[in-house]
Amino acid sequence: MTERTFSIIKPDATARNLTGKINAVIEDAGLRIVAQRRIRMTRTQAEKFYEVHKERPFYGELVDFMTSGPVVVQVLEGDGAVAKYREVMGATNPEQAAAGTIRKLFAVNVGENSVHGSDSADNAKLEIAQFFTDADIAG
Ligand code: RTP
Ligand code: MG
Repeated sequence: MTERTFSIIKPDATARNLTGKINAVIEDAGLRIVAQRRIRMTRTQAEKFYEVHKERPFYGELVDFMTSGPVVVQVLEGDGAVAKYREVMGATNPEQAAAGTIRKLFAVNVGENSVHGSDSADNAKLEIAQFFTDADIAG
């Protein structure tokens, strides 16, 4: 089923000029980038985005990191896009990520792990709505 997922190319990756290389992995996997914008996340945006992790020990560090430099927010579309992109990203910790995944190829460590991808179709809708309107999405 064609669906959409939300992706972020994180500050560790934009800092190393990896946007194009990461987008190539995304497109080679059959996912279409139907909306994309390079922004600097505000603290308020990052705190809201990661609210589910508020009680986790790494929350403060995560918000600091996500606001430390530009990110690229994206909407990806394709067959089973949510699960497919999780596969393409690889495990949260790059040491555990499979060969050929974005995190294995590019991530620095478990925190600075180059990309975010929605973990469910419901969360994808909420996350997309935080950064894009329907008019932004070309389809
Ligand atoms: P994401 O949400 O970014 O797509 O990553 P994920 O589902 O694979 O990982 P999640 O458990 O949702 O954690 C969100 C982000 O928090 C940072 N993190 N740091 N220091 C740590 O132990 C730790 N654990 C997670 C990572 O940036 C992770 O992507
Ligand atoms: Mg997550």
